[in-house]
Amino acid sequence: MAMAIKQILRMGHPVLNRVAEIVRDPRDPDIAALVEDMKDSLAAVGGTGLAAPQIGVSLRVVIFAAPAHRLTGLPEDTEQPLMAIVNPVIEPLSDRKSLGWEGCLSIPGMRGEVPRHTRIRYHGLALDGSRIDKTVEGFHARIVQHEFDHLDGILYPARMVDLMRLGFTDEMVAAGTLTPFPQAAKVS
Ligand code: NI
Repeated sequence: MAMAIKQILRMGHPVLNRVAEIVRDPRDPDIAALVEDMKDSLAAVGGTGLAAPQIGVSLRVVIFAAPAHRLTGLPEDTEQPLMAIVNPVIEPLSDRKSLGWEGCLSIPGMRGEVPRHTRIRYHGLALDGSRIDKTVEGFHARIVQHEFDHLDGILYPARMVDLMRLGFTDEMVAAGTLTPFPQAAKVS
């Protein structure tokens, strides 16, 4: 399969604000090809997750990883190699939320502090049609909520409670507000 690096759409593009469509068959070769394009596009810029609408495809497909160096140490904040999930659904397991810094490939150069459910269950389908069903917390729960939000047309600033905590990464690092993310996982 040929390498296909797609342009990542930026905030303001209407596809990013659309509710994406359900995938009828996760085993469709077109979905496998889409996921390959998403992986190539993510690898080209370096990030921890990408949703199909970010490359202009309004379907409910995301890829993400929870790398060891980003985990919080909570027992269910489990490491996750890059995976694809189709038609994902989230079920919050408590009302408790925690604040954490997020970036987004569709909002380059910026970070914001976003409240997310601390512990969630998520489920959906793998590309072979099998069911994925996990209970996670911490960073793993955060990236899942960030990526799945893209499928409902929601970018992280819309989840923020204090827009004073939104800014350009380099300014906030210089000010000591923010510690830079490790280069290997700089944005999601
Ligand atoms: Ni994003």
